[in-house]
Parts: sequence; C-alpha cells; structure tokens
Amino acid sequence: MGLVGFINGITLKNYNMTYNLLKGKKGIIFGALDEKSIAWKVAQHCVSEGAEIVLSNAPIALRMGEINKLADACKAPIFAADVTNSEDIDKLFIQTKEHFGGGVDFVLHSIGMSPNVRKSIHYTESNYDFMHKTMDISAMSLHRILQAAMKHDVINEWGSVVALTYIAAQRVFPDYNDMADAKALLEGITRSFGYHYGVKKRVRINTVSQSPTRTTAGSGVKGFDGFISYAEKMSPLGNATADQCADYVVSLFSDLTRMVTMQNLFHDGGFSFTGVTPEVIEQMEK
Ligand code: NAI
Repeated sequence: MGLVGFINGITLKNYNMTYNLLKGKKGIIFGALDEKSIAWKVAQHCVSEGAEIVLSNAPIALRMGEINKLADACKAPIFAADVTNSEDIDKLFIQTKEHFGGGVDFVLHSIGMSPNVRKSIHYTESNYDFMHKTMDISAMSLHRILQAAMKHDVINEWGSVVALTYIAAQRVFPDYNDMADAKALLEGITRSFGYHYGVKKRVRINTVSQSPTRTTAGSGVKGFDGFISYAEKMSPLGNATADQCADYVVSLFSDLTRMVTMQNLFHDGGFSFTGVTPEVIEQMEK
C-alpha cells in the first residue's frame, strides 16, 4: 500500500496504490495544459511511482500558468518548446540532459491540435495551411522529437516512448476531421521510428488509443458530449478515464513491458472490439 501525496493542494495520485514501478527513472512529459489534460495525470502518476520528470509545453500554453501548480507538486522544471520548431526541441533536450546530468528513460507525447477542428471547417472543405499545421503539431512532432532525441542521444537504452492517439485513425468518426489523418500518421511514425530506434538503442515506441476524455483538446470535437455517452454505452467496461490512462502509460514506461514496441494499444474499455450493445439498441428503438 503506497501513499497519496498532497503537495500544494494537488493530489499526486487519486487512490492509494503505488508500486514504485518507475523508481530511479527519469522522463519528459509533453502536453500538460491544465488538470484535465491526460499528460497532467501521467505526470502525477509517474512521480507517485518514483520517477523524476521534466515538463514541456508550447510557450503560449505556459503563459496560461496552470502548469506551474503541477511543476511545484512534481518538483519538476518546465522547459518551453513548440514541437513544430526543431531548435526549440534541441534546446529542450540540452536543458533536460543538463538538469538530469544524463539521459531519460521515458517520453510522453500528449500533443494534438487542429485549426480546421477549432474553426469548425468541414472535412471536405479543409483549409490546407491548417491541415499542414494539424499534421505538423499532432503527428510530425513525434518524428521531430525522436529525431532530435537520437541526435542528442537523450533516451537511455531500454527507454520507452508513448504517444496518445484515437481510434479515428482506423475507423471513421466524421467529426474528428483531419485529426483522424494526423492520428493515422502518428501511428505510422510510431511503427517506422520504433523499428529504427529499437535496432539502434533498444528504445521502444508505442501509441495508446484512449477513450474519449473530457479535456481541452477532446471537448473541441463537434458533438463531443453525445459522443462520449455513446462510447460509454458501447464499451463493456465503460469509458477509460484519464487517470486510468495514466496508469496504463506508467506500465509502458516500466520495466515490465520491455518487449512491447511499434504497437497501437487500445485503452478504451473494449470499445474497439464491440459491434453493438443492448444499451445502444434500446436507444435506437425509442
Ligand atoms: P489537452 O488540450 O489537455 O492537451 C493537448 C496539448 O497539446 C496541450 O497541452 C497543448 O498545449 C499541446 N500543444 C498544442 N500545440 C502544441 C505545440 N505547437 N507545441 C507543443 N505543445 C502543443 O488535451 P488532451 O485530451 O489531454 O490531449 C492529449 C493527447 O491525447 C492528444 O494527442 C489527443 O489527441 C489525445 N487523445 C485525446 C482524447 C480525448 O478525448 N481527450 C482521446 C484520445 C486521444
């Protein structure tokens, strides 16, 4: 039985089971915006499990200031980096290596943004400058991070990289818009880079395909409220929460999953393999 940590009013973990799974490990967490963010929960859970972390987000997101609370609670420095800018990422990795006096054992990519979604532009009328931005921020950023990590030799042997994705990469969810294409690319980069980083340094790279979750990015998708209840009804275990997602990610950062790489791993309460449920049929009969 572990401890629940309360620092600066923030609960490090929402229940009292910790296993020291990440004792002695160091990592970088990209994408904690506010306490609803999946990355925020992952940061908390990693620290509860014994890790030391560095937090990173875009300069504009840091200006919101929310992340300072998380940084205090996790005793983590914050290094700004816009993931579409290679120089920012280089700088972040240099700062991280200086901070830890060496490399890291895990990296979380929890980043997504689509200007087409933000501006409610229909998929068939996508603006291509916006689409470039969607791909750059939400997918190519993983390649950029991994390329820079290799260049600076920042990830230790048997290190683990996880990126967050969504099932719209495999099945059509019309309102997910160009984010669906970005997620397909993200999963492709995971496989391709996973091969090369595996051969080069035994670094593993996986995506976690999470249930719809109420966060800033999630709620930006049209019809999100209706959709989240539909997914709940279509999942035998119900929707997975951000906290549960963080638990799963911790397991992927731990030494217990060393031989898992290049995979897209569904963390969705069974949604991805369910055809229909009585609850949905009942709804249709009304
Ligand atoms: P969020 O809005 O809290 O996180 C998105 C993060 O991306 C923010 O911290 C934002 O500042 C960061 N970001 C955007 N542009 C950036 C840039 N240029 N450079 C650096 N960082 C940038 O939302 P959430 O839901 O926690 O999203 C995290 C990941 O989880 C995303 O990849 C999202 O697509 C994925 N996901 C979310 C689901 C949901 O329903 N919320 C479901 C499945 C996957």
